This record gives sequence, structure tokens and C-alpha cells, in this order.
Amino acid sequence: MSYSELARARYSCRRYTDEPVSQADLDAIVEAGRIAPSAHNNHPSRIVVCDTSELREKAARAAFRFEKDGSVFGAPLVILICAVTDDAWVRRYDNMSAALIDTSIACDQMMMQATDLGLGTCWVCLFDPQVARDEFGLPAGIDPISMLTVGHPADVIASPEKRAERLIPLEDFVIPAQA
Ligand SMILES: Cc1cc2nc3c(=O)[nH]c(=O)nc-3n(C[C@H](O)[C@H](O)[C@H](O)COP(=O)(O)O)c2cc1C
Repeated sequence: MSYSELARARYSCRRYTDEPVSQADLDAIVEAGRIAPSAHNNHPSRIVVCDTSELREKAARAAFRFEKDGSVFGAPLVILICAVTDDAWVRRYDNMSAALIDTSIACDQMMMQATDLGLGTCWVCLFDPQVARDEFGLPAGIDPISMLTVGHPADVIASPEKRAERLIPLEDFVIPAQA
């Protein structure tokens, strides 16, 4: 599959079968996140792999709005992506921290790797970070940013027409450059 086909194949999967994610697939997904680029090569991203019922339940308590069958969206695998915020590069002109950017690249690379393996994913930010901190015993300075649910899809991608309706047109996406 070409990258453009892969990007179009990805969608937010919110229903999963009971089939676990294989160790080989999990290893490939984790590696895709590990090798993600980061600002100044600082690598502030860290992950927690939730692949047991106990760990999935902890993730689901933080993302309680999406709890299903003791997991987030009932997924067999939930990856919590965190930032060592003080390790992230900071742009000196406006003090912008790259922590959110770097963790998002890691999350995105894992998401696309999972898609390439035929797995479904959903990026989840609507969770309570303090609950995640407490559930996983995260030390101070490690901030939970995103979750990624992964599993074998039990739903299907919407039609290209329906998906196109929810996107912004190209002319809105590209701002005309001032000469
Ligand atoms: C940063 C980010 C956070 C998101 N958080 C959630 C979330 O908390 N819950 C959820 O159901 N979907 C979440 N999504 C999925 C988006 O709603 C979804 O990507 C968007 O509606 C487009 O649909 P698609 O992924 O099927 O193309 C998130 C996506 C991104 C990129």
C-alpha cells in the first residue's frame, strides 16, 4: 500500500473484535513510535502499553466516557503516550514547548504503523490526565498526553463521500501566501 493509500485507509475505529494484537504487531507499533523524530532530537515521548485486562481497566477509568468491556472502546490494546515535559525542546522566541508536537508524532507513527498492519486505531485525548497519573503511578514530570486504542476492527470506514463531507476543502486548508 502506498502512503497516500494508507492515509486514506486510516479512520477512527471505535469497535473492536476480541482478537488480541499479536506480539509481533505490538513490537512493530512500539518501534514506529520509538523512532519518531523529535525537536532537537530530545525524545521526550514515553509510552505505557496496556495489554492486560488490569492495565486496560486503568486506561478506561481515565477515559471513562469511552469505557466498554473494561477497556477504551473495548480495544484489546491501549497505548498511553506521555511526555517528559522538561526534556522537550522549547522555542526561545515564544517559549513554545515541543512536548505536544513530539508526542503527537510518536502517536501518529504508531497509528499509521498499526493501520499498515491492518489494525484499527482511535486517537483519544478526552481523558482525565490526573486519573491516568494516579492509575499508572506516573512520577512527577511525566505527563499523560494521548491514548491510542488498537485492535482488529469490528466496524468499517465510512464511504469516501461521507468522509469527504467532514473534511475542509483544499482552498480553506492552504492559505494563499502573501507575495
Ligand atoms: C488529537 C486528537 C484527539 C482525539 N481525541 C478523540 C477522543 O477523545 N475521542 C474520540 O472518540 N476521538 C478522538 N479523536 C478522533 C477524531 O475525532 C477523528 O480523528 C476525527 O473525527 C476524524 O475522523 P477519522 O479519524 O475517522 O478520519 C481524536 C483525534 C485527534 C487527532
